[in-house]
Amino acid sequence: MREQSTMVTDLLQTDIDHATLVHDLQGEIIAAAREAQAAAYAPYSNFPVGAAVLLSDGTIYRGCNIENASFGLTVCAERVAIFNAIADGRMDIVAIALVTTAARLAKPCGACRQVISEFSQADNPIMIVSTCAGGDVCVEPISALLPDNFTLL
Ligand code: THU
Repeated sequence: MREQSTMVTDLLQTDIDHATLVHDLQGEIIAAAREAQAAAYAPYSNFPVGAAVLLSDGTIYRGCNIENASFGLTVCAERVAIFNAIADGRMDIVAIALVTTAARLAKPCGACRQVISEFSQADNPIMIVSTCAGGDVCVEPISALLPDNFTLL
């Protein structure tokens, strides 16, 4: 069975700032998201999506979209990756990368933006690394993609 997480040991630094970590590991998380994309279960849309969550110590968790014959039960790749990290007791999410087969940059759907916001800090927002098959990459904070998110706490 494939391991759920990958440790990026050569960049383990506790005091490294998030922007630097994302910059240094951008290639790694995009590669991890691409690997995850291969596991996508998307027979209805034929739109496989891969996601990779980067934690503050360099650990990476993967996710892929998982569709269902009852279409509304489909879960996006980003949420699967985040839930993998959370279920393993990890909430220190620094960034999430997204890989699709689309020609244009694909960014997380609205539902995923709300879920990402739940684990983001106002002063240190989770960075979204969006990619597309054409090779474009866009790095931006979740606060730019979902300003004024819903909160209860
Ligand atoms: N999908 C994702 O995995 N992430 C998104 O941010 C948007 C859409 C998936 C859901 C579905 O399996 C397929 O892409 C087509 O909508």
